[in-house]
Amino acid sequence: MARFGGFLYAAILVVLCIFHVDVVRAQITHPTEANALRAIRGSLIDPMNNLKNWNRGDPCTPRWAGIICEKIPSDAYLHVTELQLLKMNLSGTLAPEVGLLSQLKTLDFMWNNLTGSIPKEIGNITTLKLITLNGNQLSGTLPDEIGSLQNLNRLQIDENQISGPIPKSFANLTSMRHLHLNNNSLSGQIPSELSRLPELLHLLVDSNNLSGPLPPKLAETRSLKILQADNNNFSGSSIPAAYNNIPTLLKLSLRNCSLQGVIPDLSGIPQLGYLDLSWNQLTGSIPTNKLASNITTIDLSHNFLNGTIPANFSGLPNLQFLSIEGNRLDGAVPSAIWSNITFTGNRSLVLDFQSNSLDTIPATFEPPKAATVLLFGNPVCDSSNSARAAGLCQPTSVNEAPSGQGPQVSINCAPCPKDKTYEYNPSSPIPCFCAVPLGVGFRLKSPGIADFRSYKEAFEIDSTSELHLQIYQLYIEHYIWEAGPRLNMHLKLFPSNTTLFNMSEVVQLRHLLAGWEVTLSDIFGPYELLNFTLGSYADEFPTVVSSGLSKGALAGILAGTITAAIAMSVVSTIFIMKRRSKRRTVSRRSLLSRFSVKVDGVRFFTFEEMAGATNDFDDSAQVGQGGYGKVYKGNLADGTAVAIKRAHEDSLQGSKEFCTEIELLSRLHHRNLVSLIGYCDEEDEQMLVYEFMPNGTLRDHLSVTSKIPLNFSQRLHIALGASKGILYLHTEADPPIFHRDVKATNILLDSKFVAKVADFGLSRLAPVPDIEGTLPAHISTVVKGTPGYLDPEYFLTHKLTEKSDVYSLGIVLLELLTGMKPIQHGKNIVREVNTAYRSGDISGIIDSRISSCSPECITRFLSLALKCCQDETDARPYMAEIVRELDAIRSLLPEGEDLVSVTSMEIGSSATLTKSTSNSVTTTTGEHFGSFQTSGSGRAHSGIPSGTVAPR
Ligand SMILES: *[C@@H]1O[C@H](CO)[C@@H](O)[C@H](O)[C@H]1NC(C)=O
Ligand SMILES: *[C@@H]1O[C@H](CO)[C@@H](O)[C@H](O)[C@H]1NC(C)=O
Ligand SMILES: *[C@@H]1O[C@H](CO)[C@@H](O)[C@H](O)[C@H]1NC(C)=O
Ligand SMILES: *[C@@H]1O[C@H](CO)[C@@H](O)[C@H](O)[C@H]1NC(C)=O
Ligand SMILES: *[C@@H]1O[C@H](CO)[C@@H](O)[C@H](O)[C@H]1NC(C)=O
Repeated sequence: MARFGGFLYAAILVVLCIFHVDVVRAQITHPTEANALRAIRGSLIDPMNNLKNWNRGDPCTPRWAGIICEKIPSDAYLHVTELQLLKMNLSGTLAPEVGLLSQLKTLDFMWNNLTGSIPKEIGNITTLKLITLNGNQLSGTLPDEIGSLQNLNRLQIDENQISGPIPKSFANLTSMRHLHLNNNSLSGQIPSELSRLPELLHLLVDSNNLSGPLPPKLAETRSLKILQADNNNFSGSSIPAAYNNIPTLLKLSLRNCSLQGVIPDLSGIPQLGYLDLSWNQLTGSIPTNKLASNITTIDLSHNFLNGTIPANFSGLPNLQFLSIEGNRLDGAVPSAIWSNITFTGNRSLVLDFQSNSLDTIPATFEPPKAATVLLFGNPVCDSSNSARAAGLCQPTSVNEAPSGQGPQVSINCAPCPKDKTYEYNPSSPIPCFCAVPLGVGFRLKSPGIADFRSYKEAFEIDSTSELHLQIYQLYIEHYIWEAGPRLNMHLKLFPSNTTLFNMSEVVQLRHLLAGWEVTLSDIFGPYELLNFTLGSYADEFPTVVSSGLSKGALAGILAGTITAAIAMSVVSTIFIMKRRSKRRTVSRRSLLSRFSVKVDGVRFFTFEEMAGATNDFDDSAQVGQGGYGKVYKGNLADGTAVAIKRAHEDSLQGSKEFCTEIELLSRLHHRNLVSLIGYCDEEDEQMLVYEFMPNGTLRDHLSVTSKIPLNFSQRLHIALGASKGILYLHTEADPPIFHRDVKATNILLDSKFVAKVADFGLSRLAPVPDIEGTLPAHISTVVKGTPGYLDPEYFLTHKLTEKSDVYSLGIVLLELLTGMKPIQHGKNIVREVNTAYRSGDISGIIDSRISSCSPECITRFLSLALKCCQDETDARPYMAEIVRELDAIRSLLPEGEDLVSVTSMEIGSSATLTKSTSNSVTTTTGEHFGSFQTSGSGRAHSGIPSGTVAPR
């Protein structure tokens, strides 16, 4: 009943909207404003011809690009209320006639190339709420006249070349909340009058030429949350003690400001979450009062601080980063800082104490694994063997917090249609569902965190709820820290269970983002919209944006689309359920032109043979599931057991492509490669038939639930086998092949536990010499593969080399040693192992089920694995070197194999070995189901290829 009521309400609203639009269309633009727009157009340079319809007819009625108009009660005309010209490649200047747009609320020229100065006439537009001129080449000074804009809520002029002072008149901006003036050439003092702004939340003035002193009066602001003034020159001035009285402050960032004097007590700021006072000339000791418990980041590095490190940094539950590097602090290394931190998921802690005078370390100094403690350049590194042995004394530059990437879509999805900008949504619960996303360049301008990883989920929840989207509609393609530090992200917004957003949803999303109606949690600080990529929506978009819809009308349309989305999701659920039926009835015949080609050594099977082998594709015969489709165990008429990879409807390719793939596969023969037996290509069906691997995937045997754990010798032989298979692909196959998806679920084990590499679905031919015989070092391709195994260099550059397979294999080697998954509970295996390795104690990470091995074998194996996983492509070994080293390690194994069992293992002098006789492990195969996955990892039967699902 309630739902029906909602529908009625939406329907009525939609009707009202149509009516509203009709009324609007009967009007014309106020002549003064129409002329003003023509003048504005006249002084702009528009190389991409984005404003091509700006010379036709009336601005509001044929709807010029980027213009929104409204009717106001006082006259019969339409008035321009918004100018939205985000990132349109415009240069030229902003004409003074802009001051004639007397009803303008939004003036948005972000990320263009405007030059000249900001016209003072803007001060006449009293209706203005939003001025966003950031990211241009504007120069000149800030006009005093802006101070009279009583309704102005947001002024963003950051990233220009504006000089001169911050006008005192800004003290009259009584509605001002967001004052973003960073990255210009502003000079003079920060006017103390700004303290009068009753609503000011964010004052960003970093990277200017401002001089001191810092006004103590700012402490009188009633709502200031962020004060960021890094990279100015307040020479000689000190940090006002009064700042301890700003009750609302969340972030105080005064890096590199030539500040002197002592650090005042800041323990009175109850919500302080981020404190950066680095690169100044601060003296004296660190105040001993405890900072607020919400603090994530404390950077006091590169000052002249002396005395000891007080206990007040201990027990801060949210701390991510503390640096006191480059001071004159002495005394003991604190050992309880992490005492109140719960290290779960991606939670990490960096404690940088380098280059001080710390001279003692407690006898038991045991930081948790997720904490990085850096002591290089302290006397304690000369005096304490244990500090050195624990690996705390190596010189390390603290890089920016890690950047990251979203999950990748499974390669086995068939390509999306090409007629629009279709893509897979890797976050979607429906695998391989093609839809047209919107791209959003997004940046956290002044975040209150040092490491995003443990806040990613909160961000996803927060932002999607503000955008009225489901969480899975958001895909964070990647994020990277930039100078500031600012966090740059690329987001994709996907429609919910439909292939396309309707146009009013697009308008609404853009409106929410570009109108700053998205309110993120304070910890993320203000955001910037860097771009909004319409893709296939572009053709229709400008028309709709300027159709004069009021906010109320938009809300109505939104309500309507939500109803429609619910209806659509019901339809698509039914569609999905229908697809589950065993026999496909829809004929795709017309789509696939047939090429019946005979491939030597490969059998052709009919659909009936395949159905017969699998008991009509009975669920009980299914042994795996991937993006490409399901995998069944089958028994051919002659009794041979086979694995049958049956393409999902969406994965069907043209017969010609399919044949090419088979032809390629048929030429590969190696003891360590799964061989192709045959194929079926009939009536909307494509299947690949492989030899069956009774012992399933390597991953199955490494999982904690595995009944018979593999011993070291078996693991080493599996590593060697897999390496030889890959080496064959790189060097013997003609033409050479890069696997592109080496992972533990793609390494299968036959009845004798011989490793065989499977799934060349991702294979791309390696580069071949050109006419002159030169070999291109890489091929550029779209990034594909499985999260956790992806070569970071490949991800960044899209350049695929044989070393990308080496990286993935390195991850498999680490899995063999540790039993961990590449990404487990948000922890990255490479990082975990590296941390342990550097700390000198690897006993905690080696799989306790490895029953026999010598410490030398383990360390050589481990260092080989880590070499493979280096970020630098060139630093990784070639496959041939890997095979050679594994062979060398194998030769170290005692003939009887399991003689020594290591129960506690440490590198260095204190290594403890316990000899024991372990039961020799027999490998029975009877209990194992052969499982054969085409992609994804542990979730073989969930119905969702894990490679396509965001871990959340
Ligand atoms: C702006 O102009 C500069 C040269 O003046 C050019 O390098 C840059 O690409 C332009 N940016 C945009 C967004 O057009
Ligand atoms: C602002 O508007 C007033 C009239 O309202 C006009 O007299 C004045 O010239 C305008 N100022 C600018 C700078 O355009
Ligand atoms: C603020 O506005 C008042 C009038 O409303 C004016 O007298 C005063 O000069 C203005 N202050 C500044 C700093 O411009
Ligand atoms: C700490 O932060 C959380 C949210 O991030 C907030 O709810 C809480 O009030 C803050 N605590 C204090 C003491 O400010
Ligand atoms: C710290 O340095 C100041 C001079 O900057 C000096 O007066 C003070 O005695 C020093 N304190 C300690 C504990 O060394």
